[in-house]
Amino acid sequence: MHLRMKSLPLTQGDISTFQEKEEQQEVFAKLLVFAQQAEAIESVEKAKEMVKGLNLPKSWLKKYITFKPAPAKYSHHPIFWTPVIEVSGFGWESGQESDAHTHTNLYKNGFSTAVIKILEGTGVNQIFQQVGESELGEKLIVGCQAQELKTGEIAIVHPGEIHVFGNKSDSPLVTLHTYYPPLGNLTADERPKYRIVG
Ligand SMILES: [Fe+2]
Repeated sequence: MHLRMKSLPLTQGDISTFQEKEEQQEVFAKLLVFAQQAEAIESVEKAKEMVKGLNLPKSWLKKYITFKPAPAKYSHHPIFWTPVIEVSGFGWESGQESDAHTHTNLYKNGFSTAVIKILEGTGVNQIFQQVGESELGEKLIVGCQAQELKTGEIAIVHPGEIHVFGNKSDSPLVTLHTYYPPLGNLTADERPKYRIVG
């Protein structure tokens, strides 16, 4: 298993107290178990259960949760990833939401499943359906489902589904997103253009 972490204080000098070191070890142990379980996810229900059980201490998570004011749509920090799974932390200010998008996987041979857990606040996940295409090649989409999620609740975005996720509440929103396989970074040309028409 290849487990990679980003932005972690891996050198001893970055951990100032014994408690922080203990917490770090505890978190690494949890992430290793999570990464091992991810090698054999047989259903969305299993993924949901895994994400529900991934309780990382707030004090440790805080370095991955930041907020960026508009025009940013959210703030995002990868926490860890392996060839089969990726976990990221997101901070959403009131009124911020993503563009409409799908989740192309790292290998660009299909789509990822997203499991979104609300850590704090209220989020809204909207699912869209394509109803046509404009002369400019934009995919015309209409909303067909919207789900409001509170702290501790989980939304699933199935492979290939077009969605918008965001914070329609008056308070900040913090979410933990798990993608399997990990996401691929599409270039501007590769990224489909969507226009919401209803
Ligand atoms: Fe998404």
